[in-house]
Amino acid sequence: MNRQVDFILTGAGQLVTADPGLGSGPLGLVERGAVAAARGTVVFAGPEAAMPDLPIAPECERIDAGGRAVVPGLVDAHTHLVFAGDRADEFAARLRGVGYEQALAAGGGIHRTVRDTRAASDAELERATGDRLVQAGVHGTTTIEVKSGYGLTVDDERRSLEVLARLSARTPIEVVPTFLGAHLIPAEFADDRAGYIDLLVQEMLPACAPLAEFVDAFCDRGALTVAESRRVLAAGRRHGLKTKLHANELGPTGGAWLAAEQGCVSADHLLFLDHAEAAALAKAGAVAVLLPGTSFLLGTGDVAPVRVLRESQVTLALGTDCNPGTCYCESMQLVIALACIHGGLTPEEALLGATSGAARAVGRGERAGRLTPGSACDLVVLSGRSYLDLAYHLGVNLAHVVVKGGRVVARDGVPLGLLHEPAEQPDA
Ligand code: NIG
Ligand code: FE
Repeated sequence: MNRQVDFILTGAGQLVTADPGLGSGPLGLVERGAVAAARGTVVFAGPEAAMPDLPIAPECERIDAGGRAVVPGLVDAHTHLVFAGDRADEFAARLRGVGYEQALAAGGGIHRTVRDTRAASDAELERATGDRLVQAGVHGTTTIEVKSGYGLTVDDERRSLEVLARLSARTPIEVVPTFLGAHLIPAEFADDRAGYIDLLVQEMLPACAPLAEFVDAFCDRGALTVAESRRVLAAGRRHGLKTKLHANELGPTGGAWLAAEQGCVSADHLLFLDHAEAAALAKAGAVAVLLPGTSFLLGTGDVAPVRVLRESQVTLALGTDCNPGTCYCESMQLVIALACIHGGLTPEEALLGATSGAARAVGRGERAGRLTPGSACDLVVLSGRSYLDLAYHLGVNLAHVVVKGGRVVARDGVPLGLLHEPAEQPDA
């Protein structure tokens, strides 16, 4: 440990390490905690009194948490940030009883956002997506999965991932890109579904895979069938992508079985799930990504059957699902609260789901979601004294200081270098 530390945080009344080896309980909770890091990597996390004498760099960033709670940087395991337009009127209609699937079947829903996204300029799309990234960041998200899926042509899907790559270069937030050309069969292929999957496999994937890390499909009622989704995942894997699946969101449609069969890193939504499906996911090592904002806003009752997942010992993760249709929300804090209040998770399960669980779901289990030697120095100093505030103190931004890679990137809702200027001036 001869490297000079350039980040020291002291005075954490509660330090959640998410490493049970470092503290008490599943959260690895440490009282009066401290964290030290060198070049973005944690070298010490534990009781302040036990912090070793470390060589300190002259430009060391020092934070006194002043007795506040400190948690690992939040990880959002599932978002659809790249879109143009909004569907506020559709949301209002839903409050009056017009169902999500009804709007989709009538050419609204995802179809409408596809039209708006195709019509937007590159600069508009980058600006809208960047604004959402900043919102996520000031609310404590330091790693985020982002899907394409509102382009649904070779050029528009590739463009969505290019926008994401440019934003990724402009932000310290770690962006995990997912290709979701299989979000829906676009309207122009309504009578030739196989033709769209052929296009996806033969042209879209070769164009998009170099810009993505995961492939995903919306395997559900009104979207893709199990057989169509299977083709997409298998082809994605041939292009070197890891797999995820939107499964069992609108009904028990076989998605969870497919995710297990395909060895997906995660199966997401899972609002309808029985014991056999949960056991299959556990056996396959898939992480269950729960999206309680979506079930809350769709009014579909509970979040995933948590008891079933718990009994099968499936790793739980959380995501916002941030999208213009089912859940327009960038805040993982609200998602943690909803997971507890509406979804039946304990606060500890929810916080682990939003940190170490979500990191596993996006292939960052070694690096993100924990505060332990070797992990990224991503953390949030909360404005309260307890991590419980995340579930309890509702509707305000509790991220007092957000740190990414040992650097402060937001303070009290103000972004500090969360999004750098674009390399070239936008064209519109
Ligand atoms: O995760 N399920 C598919 N995609 C989103 C909804 C997208 C939309 O309605 O625009 C979801 O809920
Ligand atoms: Fe989704």
